[in-house]
Order: sequence, then C-alpha cells, then structure tokens
Amino acid sequence: MQHYSDILVIGGGAAGLSLALRLADTHSISLISKGKLQEGSTYYAQGGIAAVLDKDDSFDDHVADTLNAGANLCDPAVVRYVVEHGPKSIQWLIDQGVPFTKDANHQPPYHLTREGGHSHRRIIHAADATGRAVETTLDQLARQHPNITLYEQHIAVDLITRQKLSQKGNRVLGAYVLDRDAGHVRVFRAQTVILATGGASKVYLYTSNPDTSTGDGIAMAWRAGCRVANMEFNQFHPTCLYHPEAKSFLITEAMRGEGGHLKLPDGNRFMNHFDPRGELAPRDIVARAIDHEMKRLGSECVYLDISHRPADFVKEHFPTVYKRCLKYGYNITKQAIPIVPAAHYTCGGITTNLNGQTDIEGLYAIGETAFTGLHGANRMASNSILECLVFAESASQHITTLDKAPPPTDDLPEWDESRVTDSDEEVVVTHNWHELRTFMWDYVGIVRTNKRLQRAQRRINLLQNEIEEYYGNFRVTNDLLELRNLTDVADLIVQSAIARKESRGLHYTLDYPEVDDSVGLVNTVLVPENFPEK
Ligand code: FAD
Ligand code: SIN
Repeated sequence: MQHYSDILVIGGGAAGLSLALRLADTHSISLISKGKLQEGSTYYAQGGIAAVLDKDDSFDDHVADTLNAGANLCDPAVVRYVVEHGPKSIQWLIDQGVPFTKDANHQPPYHLTREGGHSHRRIIHAADATGRAVETTLDQLARQHPNITLYEQHIAVDLITRQKLSQKGNRVLGAYVLDRDAGHVRVFRAQTVILATGGASKVYLYTSNPDTSTGDGIAMAWRAGCRVANMEFNQFHPTCLYHPEAKSFLITEAMRGEGGHLKLPDGNRFMNHFDPRGELAPRDIVARAIDHEMKRLGSECVYLDISHRPADFVKEHFPTVYKRCLKYGYNITKQAIPIVPAAHYTCGGITTNLNGQTDIEGLYAIGETAFTGLHGANRMASNSILECLVFAESASQHITTLDKAPPPTDDLPEWDESRVTDSDEEVVVTHNWHELRTFMWDYVGIVRTNKRLQRAQRRINLLQNEIEEYYGNFRVTNDLLELRNLTDVADLIVQSAIARKESRGLHYTLDYPEVDDSVGLVNTVLVPENFPEK
C-alpha cells in the first residue's frame, strides 16, 4: 500500500508548522520540506510580527495602515479579519514558548518596535532574529509530536488530483514527492493537502530569500487548475547589504524604525524628497526612491546609517545585523553601511478564501504562497508571519469540521520513469536558471516598461519549451523541478504585469506611470486552461 496520512503538509515554515501543530492531536500528519526543516524564509525573518498589543494602538489603526500601504487594493474584510486575530495568534506563539524580547515597562511585558507604514509601535520581536526564534521553537515541538512525521529532503513534484486521473470533479488526492537522498519519486496520499511552500523571490537575481523560495506551491497549484492572483506585486526590500559575499543579507526595517537614516554617497539624506514619512514610508516607495537615486547618480548603492544612536542600544537591538556586518568589515555603531534593494516577498499567489481553501476540493494554501487579499499592491512590513499564523488557525479550524475519510484501499498510479534517463547535460539547467533570474531582474524589476515585459515574455516562452522537453526526457532532480516552477511563476508574473495598465504599489511601469482607479481597482486574477468553469 502507498503511504497515507490524514493531512499532507508541504512546507515547514511558520505557516506549515503552526497548522501541523494545531491539528496534530486529532489527525495523522506528514510534513515534507525540500531541504532541512528550518531552511525557509521564516527562519531568516528579522524585524518581527505586527499585532495590536499596545493600549494606545487599535485594530482600526492597524487596518488603516495596512489598507494604506496596500494602495487601495487590499480586501478590507480580510484585513480586519487578520488584524483582529493578531493578538490571539501572538499569544499562541507565546504559549508554544517563543522567547520574544521583553520590556518590563510595557504591558504586556514585551518590547514593540516600529517599521515602515505603521502609525504605532506594534512589532513584537525576538531581538533582530524573530524568525529564528519562531522556527526553532515550532520545529522542536513538531519533532516531539507523535502524530507528526517529518520528511526532510523531500520535494513535492506535482499534486495528484481527480482531474489528472480523468475522474469526475477536481479533488486533491495527494502528491508525487521526490526523496532527494534516495532519488525516487513516491506517492504521498492524503485526504487534505496543505501548500505552505513560501514565496517565489528566487525568480530574481538578487533576493533576500533563501534558496527554497522558488514558488513551487504556486506553480503546482496553477498546473493542477487553481486560479492565481496579483503576481505583478513582488516586493523589493529597500535595504540589503551591498557586498559581493553577503548574498543580499537583509538589514531589518526596524533599524529605520529605531532612527536609521538613508543617505546618498555624499552623506545627504534624501527620503524626505520622496515622501513626508521619510525613511518610514511604505516599502514600495522607499525601494523606488533608492532605485531612482542610484540610477540618477550612477551609484552602485546608497547607505544606511544608525551610528548616531548609542552603540549599546544598537548592539542590543540588532545583534545579528551587527555581527554579520562586522564580518564584512562594517561596524554599524560607527559607520554607514552600503545597501541596495533586493526581491523580498511575493504578494500574489494561489487564490484562497478565509479558510485557506483553494479552487480544488481538499487543497488549502497558507502563508506566502497564498493570495488572501491581505496585502493588496504592497505588503506592510511584518504582516506576513501574522498572515501565516492567522490562516494556519482558520484552515485548521475548517479542517476539523470535515468528516474524516477512512484510508483508501486502492493505489494511485505510480510515478512513471520508464521512458527517462539520467541527464548528461546538467549545464542546460544551470544556464537556464541564471538566464531566467537575470532577465527577470533586468526587465521585470522595480521599474518596468511594456517593451521590457514583452522581451521577458518571449524568453520565458522559449525556456518553457526547452524545460518541458528536458523534463520529459530526463530523471527529475531538485534543480530541474525548481527551474520548471520558477519559469512557470515568471510567466505568471509577466502575464499579470502586462495586464495591469497603470502603476500601483509595487507595480511601477514607465508606460503608465500614474495610479488609475478607472482600470486598476481590481485584482489581476489569472485562470488556468484546466479551470473547471473555463
Ligand atoms: P517559508 O518559511 O518560506 O517556508 C516554506 C517551506 O516550504 C520550507 O520548509 C520549504 O522547504 C518548503 N517547500 C517549498 N517548496 C517545496 C516543495 N516543492 N516540496 C517540499 N517542500 C517545499 N515577515 C514578517 O512578517 N516579519 C519579518 O520580520 C520578516 N522578515 C523577513 C526577513 C527575511 C530575510 C525574509 C526572506 C523574509 C522576511 N519576512 C518577514 C517574510 C516572512 O519571513 C515570510 O513571508 C514567511 O516566513 C513565509 O512563511 P511560509 O511558512 O509561508 O514559508
Ligand atoms: C524586516 O525586518 O525588515 C523584514 C520585515 C518584513 O519583511 O516584514
């Protein structure tokens, strides 16, 4: 018999782990992650998690700030839902043992920091390594739970659905999963499948994200017949360390929240020329301003300076950033550091409702892979982990209302490898990876034009043909699967960007440089060919 569990969770970040832990007492759970469990964006999150935890703050203000950052494209009902569930989600993390930074003078006794777009201090954090604290705490709990079986080094290849098996309706039945160490693709069956696979920022040459962010969930769901929305809104984080060996190491926005200044190479501040909120304007505005100044001056970077704050304060609040910058020769307590923007967050994704349900029965999507309506055209800082937690709770509650199915008695078709051989041309995969990420950065980055998007589209079509041929002939590998997914996601980003004939939030095009409410106040929803109603 094939492997079976009540729930198959694909992804072990904040979204996947919290959902698994919430359901583990009542359901059998298989949780797969394509590398080590901790390797995902969650582990690297720095600034913190936004929630209304201060007596002077209010749900109305958190809602208003989120709507404002989202450039009028957020779904107000979803924003309110997430914001109102924020404090409870934070309490859940505290109950699991996440060690947030304390502040004895505050009630509740936690320190709250500030980030761009927020009108109040409302970011709870664990110094400047919040994600590490969340991920390691949840990881330990999952490893100890008898009903959760972890499969690290396992990458989901594709979903198995009734439609794919030419059966009536479209229900998910499980997934094909490559065991990367053994080199075999196995069938993982489940009554319910959760996509918690994170974002797709690896589609760009420069990114703050770990290697796992290749949009696998979005690509798998799209191929299986789910709608995907708002893929043109990829967020670029304004401040990543500019150093040849730093791999776009993120410098948390909380550093600007605690008084850090952005400066030109001549030492002058410039953000006030772009927005009255200065360094604490929403991210799309700050990243675009930096891009503008770098292009105007022909400069390779601009600078972030917090050296005017007391050295002890800086070291206490930003120990991770302090140590990492020192490693590369910069002492942030004494000097400004060179920074550039880099791809950071995928605001679009698989369309879902308030329960995290997708268009396919039994298939849920939560976390960065999902499009819920929360972020609109630009995610506000620290609203992401919050979204992971809130939707992990709502999806788990919905799943507990479903009747449990007995384990199936018949097998699903095994993965067919009879016609494929080992590749003798791995260079095709590495070359195409690099080509894709380079032209996405050059043509589909912070500033776009019709011409650049069309150029990108032509190259994507060529790559898709080449990859499909390669995929059909050779044994699948992790790199090939990720490349295939990245190329599909790039296609969705470009299609969405071409469809939006205005500039809004993170989508800025020189051909339509203004916000245009007469065409732009709708989400860009892409419908796959195999969508049942198409
Ligand atoms: P991830 O944490 O990315 O986890 C994805 C999981 O899916 C991984 O386990 C991966 O192995 C697995 N996976 C992917 N594809 C497959 C596949 N095909 N098969 C099997 N497994 C697969 N947000 C905030 O709110 N506050 C912050 O301070 C903050 N700071 C950030 C700093 C950095 C440097 C980065 C990169 C992001 C930051 N973000 C922050 C964004 C936030 O961290 C992410 O959006 C969030 O953690 C995503 O969680 P997730 O569970 O959806 O995905
Ligand atoms: C940061 O710490 O600047 C990242 C916060 C986020 O992406 O939400």
